[in-house]
Amino acid sequence: MCGIVGYVGPKQAQDVVVEGLRRLEYRGYDSAGVALVIPGGTSGVIAEAKKAGKLANLEKVIADSTLPPSHTGIGHTRWATHGAPTDANAHPHLGSERRVALVHNGIIENFAELRTRLEDDDHVLLSETDTEVAAHLLELAVAAGADLTTAMQQVCRRLEGAFTLVAVDAHDPDRVVAARRNSPLVVGVGEGEHFLGSDVAAFIEHTREALELGQDQVVTITRDAVAITDFDGRPGEGRAYHVDWDLSAAEKDGHDWFMRKEIFEQPRAVADSLLGRRSTSGLLQLDEMRLSDDEIRDIDKIIIIAAGTSFYAGMVAKYAIEHWTRIPVEVELSSEFRYRDPILDHSTLVVAISQSGETADTLQAIRHARSQRSKVLAICNTNGSTIPRESDAVIYTHAGPEIGVASTKGFLTQLVACYLLALYVAQVKGTRFGDEIEEVMSQLEAMPDHIATVLAGAEQVYDLARAHTGTRSVLFLGRHAGYPVALEGALKLKEIAYLHAEGFAAGELKHGPIALVEQGLPVLCVVPPRGRDQLHEKMISGIQEVRARGAQTICLAEEGDTRIEPYADVLIRLPKVPVLLQPLVAVVPLQLFACELATALGHDVDQPRNLAKSVTVE
Ligand code: AGP
Repeated sequence: MCGIVGYVGPKQAQDVVVEGLRRLEYRGYDSAGVALVIPGGTSGVIAEAKKAGKLANLEKVIADSTLPPSHTGIGHTRWATHGAPTDANAHPHLGSERRVALVHNGIIENFAELRTRLEDDDHVLLSETDTEVAAHLLELAVAAGADLTTAMQQVCRRLEGAFTLVAVDAHDPDRVVAARRNSPLVVGVGEGEHFLGSDVAAFIEHTREALELGQDQVVTITRDAVAITDFDGRPGEGRAYHVDWDLSAAEKDGHDWFMRKEIFEQPRAVADSLLGRRSTSGLLQLDEMRLSDDEIRDIDKIIIIAAGTSFYAGMVAKYAIEHWTRIPVEVELSSEFRYRDPILDHSTLVVAISQSGETADTLQAIRHARSQRSKVLAICNTNGSTIPRESDAVIYTHAGPEIGVASTKGFLTQLVACYLLALYVAQVKGTRFGDEIEEVMSQLEAMPDHIATVLAGAEQVYDLARAHTGTRSVLFLGRHAGYPVALEGALKLKEIAYLHAEGFAAGELKHGPIALVEQGLPVLCVVPPRGRDQLHEKMISGIQEVRARGAQTICLAEEGDTRIEPYADVLIRLPKVPVLLQPLVAVVPLQLFACELATALGHDVDQPRNLAKSVTVE
């Protein structure tokens, strides 16, 4: 998500910080800012500048109104989560007395209650962000006599969620203090200078010696020292390593492609998309929902509109929404939607799914839906983009910027948002008991670990992919929620490996597509979990049909599924998860397969031919 830089040393902090932000631009951002400590004992001050838009906008602000020289500073490129991408919401944020400045990456889940308490104590908060509350709390702690390190420990103990925080104190110009929980942070170790960065790209121009922080640690950097503690002040240690990547690899966290990096970020992305969705009373809450309970109770039909990968997320959503809410759901390609004169009225909820929030087909479709008096809810990854702005309600997916043209973490987090929507509607309409919703939420919260387990088996999938460089055609089969996964697996292969690939509902095969099967044709089969025995057995029948005609069956099946073994030429194991949530793990080997095969074929995985990340023409 956001990019973070911190510096203390002999150089001009502004230059180091702005340069670091430039190196982090690849992460994607919508505003940028810096804060510098201008020393002067208790008269020391913070000088800051921040601006919405590209780094060039910030540089212009600084050029027009020069900041004083300083050797201690922090900087930030923001990817909006709470609040639109505006100057006021850009980081750094300052406390009431402008003594402490702070930048943040992540989501502070309990910010609303902390904000209310601060406002009750007459604090005036200037932004809509979750970050500003941390700046105020930190400043209160240093004003009460704690040093910045102790203050950071105290504040972190009060925060819930995922965060990297980096702060400076105007009265203490020689240190920068940072903290990390579930969000990345690396220290750059120099000679008489130290750096902080969301990743090593922020500082590898200056040093290649790095220190990775552990979970729930606070780090204090001065010119000559790095001190690490946990949130209770007990001494801790980081993991030291030497960075031998070049800048391009550093941006990709050592991976060869952004797509691969994003595939491996999925456990974190899914966890982030689940953050802050439950109130203290345990009820589901969707911050930007903006639809009243009465409006939700009125819904008698849902139409999901989307394109490409987002459309497949919508297909999975149909299974979940209908099952949990009993509301009928239609899923429609946004490019087709308005041309068929859909039946819409005020009790139809139209759900538009779009990673970019700018897809022209989807935008035109929501405009049509609103003109027919339907409510529109956007599921989107890009805060401030056009589709959420033109919708009545929005659920942000919080995947962080997706750079690879082929969507991966965008898809998984769209699935999470769809599940959340389904459960929320079920909660409001009372179609599921509270404990049932609670149980699914717990299952969802276990998914990041399950996805990590699948990723740990990447080598098996890579070997498989490399063995298929001579293949000209691949089929994908699935049933139920596994059917859209098959379609998505085929789309990934088309997009980046330029192979003929088709996804089918396994039961449909015998009605025609089975004619495509010939000796040696690879068929990837998404096998549903057992328990739904009919579904599982029916899938086995489909697999038998293609196997009998010479296909090579590559089966993705849950741990412990021994029934599948005689029918699988290759078996890829998936963690045991409920059938409706299986797409979150089942699609991951298909992403890895496409990424590795495209790499082996020598294609540009991040910029596939003929494709754009965001399709802004109809
Ligand atoms: C996904 O890999 C594709 N690049 C594409 O199908 C994409 O999902 C589609 O264009 C929709 O984009 P959106 O989610 O930004 O609206």
